[in-house]
Amino acid sequence: MDLSIRLLGLTFDNPLLPASGPLVDSLDNLLYFNEHDVGGLVTKTISLDGAQVAKPCIVASRHMVHNTELWSELPHEMWVENILPNLKQDLRKPLIVSVGYTAEDLNILVPKLNPYADFFEVSTHYNRDALKSLVTAICSSTDKPVFIKLSPHIDDYLGFVKDVVDCGASGVVAVNSLGPGVVINLEKRSVTIGIDGGKSWVSGPAIKPVALNRVMNIRKSFPDLPIIACGGVESAKDVIEFMLAGADLVQMLSAALINGRGLYDEIVEHLPKVLETYHFESMEDVRHTSLSYEVVGGGDHPSISDDACVHCGLCVKICPERALSLQKTVIVNKMKCMRCGLCESRCPSKAISGVL
Ligand SMILES: Cc1cc2nc3c(=O)[nH]c(=O)nc-3n(C[C@H](O)[C@H](O)[C@H](O)COP(=O)(O)O)c2cc1C
Repeated sequence: MDLSIRLLGLTFDNPLLPASGPLVDSLDNLLYFNEHDVGGLVTKTISLDGAQVAKPCIVASRHMVHNTELWSELPHEMWVENILPNLKQDLRKPLIVSVGYTAEDLNILVPKLNPYADFFEVSTHYNRDALKSLVTAICSSTDKPVFIKLSPHIDDYLGFVKDVVDCGASGVVAVNSLGPGVVINLEKRSVTIGIDGGKSWVSGPAIKPVALNRVMNIRKSFPDLPIIACGGVESAKDVIEFMLAGADLVQMLSAALINGRGLYDEIVEHLPKVLETYHFESMEDVRHTSLSYEVVGGGDHPSISDDACVHCGLCVKICPERALSLQKTVIVNKMKCMRCGLCESRCPSKAISGVL
C-alpha cells in the first residue's frame, strides 16, 4: 500500500510527523525519529534565546495533556552549530524547522537555519497582533516554503489564514494547543502546573474535534492551500480522518506523550490495514477524496443485531430517553426513542445500526 505524499516538491514516505514539542527538542530525540517510521521531522520551536521554563511543565490524563512549555530551552547557537549540522549528516527524510516569535527574531534566525530546513513552520502562539510583519519577515528571509501555525483559540481563523497567505506563506499548520486552561491539584489546593496566574495549554485526543473543524473549514475556503493538520491524533484512523477533512500531512505529539513514542511506528504500521478497511487505495487516494459536509443516511430508530449483541446493557444504561430495555434481546421503544445516535456510537460490539 502506497503511503507516500508529495507536497511542494518533497516526498514524505507517509503522512505522519511528530509535532513540535519535547519529543523533538534535542539531537538524540530527532535522531530517534530519523530511524523510525515517521514521514518527516519537525523541530522544537527555536527562538533567539533559550526559554526559561518553570517546572513542572507537563501533566497528562488519558485523553489530554496540559503544558506550560515555551520554545526550546537551548539557545539558537546550539541548534545552528551542533544539533542541525549533526542531524543533517544522516538525515533520511524532510525536515521542518519550527521558529518563533517576533519579526526581529526571525530576521536573525532564519538565514542561519535556512541551510537545514526543507520547510519552515512558524509558531504564532504568543504573537497574533504582529502577524503580518512576522510572516512578511520570514518569507523575505528564505527561499523555503513557510507554514504558519494557527492557534485554535483564534476566532477569525479564516481571516488569519488569508492574512498569512497574502503575506507570502505557502501553507498552514492547524492547530497548536488549546486554551488557556487550568489543571488543579486538590490536595495542594493549587494549580498543578500554570504560568501567568495559573494558565496552561491543552492538547491531545480531547481537542481533536476542534482541530478537525479548523482543517475542514480552511480546506473549504482555500482549496489549494497546503495544510498540515495537528491536534488530537492518536490512531491510524485519526490520520485518515484528518486527510479526508483536507490535510496534506498530519502531526502528532500528545498521544505519544500519553502512550509512549512507539505509537508513531504503531500508527504507520496500521495505516495500510485501516486504508483497506475503508476501501482506500493509497494515502493519495484519501487526500483526493472529498468529504461530504452533510450527514449521509441514517436517522432511523436503532436496529439491533441479535447475533452481534453481547447483552452488556450499556445502551440501556446510557439512553437519555430510557427507550431501550434488555430482555432476551434489546427492545427499542419507538415512542420514547428520539433517534439521537448515542447508543449506536457507544455499542462496543457494533450490534446497533440505522441511526448513524
Ligand atoms: C509539552 C508540549 C510542548 C509543546 N511545544 C511546542 C513548541 O515548542 N512549538 C509549537 O509550535 N508547538 C508546541 N506544542 C504544540 C504541539 O506541537 C501541537 O500543536 C499540540 O500539542 C496539538 O497536537 P497534539 O494534540 O497531537 O499534541 C507543544 C505541545 C505540548 C504538549
